[in-house]
Amino acid sequence: MKKFKTQAVRAIKALFVFFVFLLSLFSIDTVNYSELYSGPYLHYILGDGEVIESSPLGTYLVRHGKIIAKDMMEYAFPSGSDPDSIKMRSGLDRFDDTRTVPVKTRLVIKSRKVGEYLKPQPVIALAPLAYASRKKEEILNQRLNDQLSRHELQGEQWYRNPRDWLMVAFCNPVHYKCGNNELAILEQYRLSIYPQIANHTQVYYGIGTAETEMELVRWQIESRSPVKLNAIDVSQDFLDIFAGKLAAKQIEYPRKNISANLICDIFQNLDRSRLDLGQTKHSIHICVGNTIGNSRDQAEIFKVFQSNTRPGDKLLLGFQLRNHIARTFKKYRANPYYLNFAVNQIVKSSQIDYRRAKWSYEPKTGFIVLHYGGIEVFRSKKYQVKQVVRELAGHDFAYLDNWVDRYRNSAILLMKKV
Ligand SMILES: C[S@@+](CC[C@H](N)C(=O)[O-])C[C@H]1O[C@@H](n2cnc3c(N)ncnc32)[C@H](O)[C@@H]1O
Repeated sequence: MKKFKTQAVRAIKALFVFFVFLLSLFSIDTVNYSELYSGPYLHYILGDGEVIESSPLGTYLVRHGKIIAKDMMEYAFPSGSDPDSIKMRSGLDRFDDTRTVPVKTRLVIKSRKVGEYLKPQPVIALAPLAYASRKKEEILNQRLNDQLSRHELQGEQWYRNPRDWLMVAFCNPVHYKCGNNELAILEQYRLSIYPQIANHTQVYYGIGTAETEMELVRWQIESRSPVKLNAIDVSQDFLDIFAGKLAAKQIEYPRKNISANLICDIFQNLDRSRLDLGQTKHSIHICVGNTIGNSRDQAEIFKVFQSNTRPGDKLLLGFQLRNHIARTFKKYRANPYYLNFAVNQIVKSSQIDYRRAKWSYEPKTGFIVLHYGGIEVFRSKKYQVKQVVRELAGHDFAYLDNWVDRYRNSAILLMKKV
């Protein structure tokens, strides 16, 4: 009888192990696809309907919406001449092959449920990230060469070294007699500004340290849930800082569901299909901190807003006025960090010759300009509201409203796409 009991226990144990084994076999296909999106994830689009999704829950190979392999995938990047292909190997038996897959589109880094952002990322996620960032560097270097041949550096080059911008940002000449004039406007006129943009999904262009943006984000968090945001910036560091700030907001407002679609790319490459606009009928496109003033060709940045908006969408711009131009000019010239910031991609900081820097002001265009050698390395335009309204009218935007701070240093302008 005792022997029979022991055998029965063994048989039950064996059955249990077999059952667990069976379950593990099916576990790949039974993973809840939506769970993939419960944290920050990498979304890497390959050819033929295949994507790699990488989240804190693991890395998945998905074909036409169905998970076909999980974890243990490795990515090898060819050193040869074809940068648009990657080799992919899955550790699972049924995908234990090595193949080259054409990369159809760019990498999109998304952080859903931002509160989870600070959890450790799976190491595997670094491979596609490294690929995307190498690709981005290649594109930026190519643009840099073109710009040097025209003796004119463009804004995206300055921000490639985040530290140089942070040094400038702490004593930014854009601000006048207060910490941040645009922020002061937002705080003072919240009740007239917010109702006009409340039901719009926010899209941020050029997030920087997000000093001004966080006020608009807070309004949104306080008035609705879920909150869905989009942000595009050339710098992954600034997007990470923004995600960190959102994560902190998530702690302040634990009941709110905050999510963000963070796109690391240049404005000029953005197209509307990359934005996450599902939640509301219209979107509000926001570019503050005088970022528009960095473009020599104003039509280029206005075209970006034009092509990413639909009739009924709105545009909110924050910029500096010309009212204190003599003092503003002196402040730029007196800020020793500007030169390092402007030339960080072309001269090592230890080799900068400060005597070669030449600041000037163009009264006709409103540009404050820095030359180094024969190259225009930096510029910042100062505006008149009327003139911006007129130029935007040529890009299908109609005037709605504008607000100015008590020192008449900066303006927030609201336009509507017609
Ligand atoms: C002046 S800072 C932004 C300041 C911020 N909006 C604020 O108000 O605190 C400009 C930002 O735009 C980004 N940027 C500049 N040119 C860009 C471009 N062509 N494409 C994408 N991002 C760009 C920079 O990386 C930087 O984060």
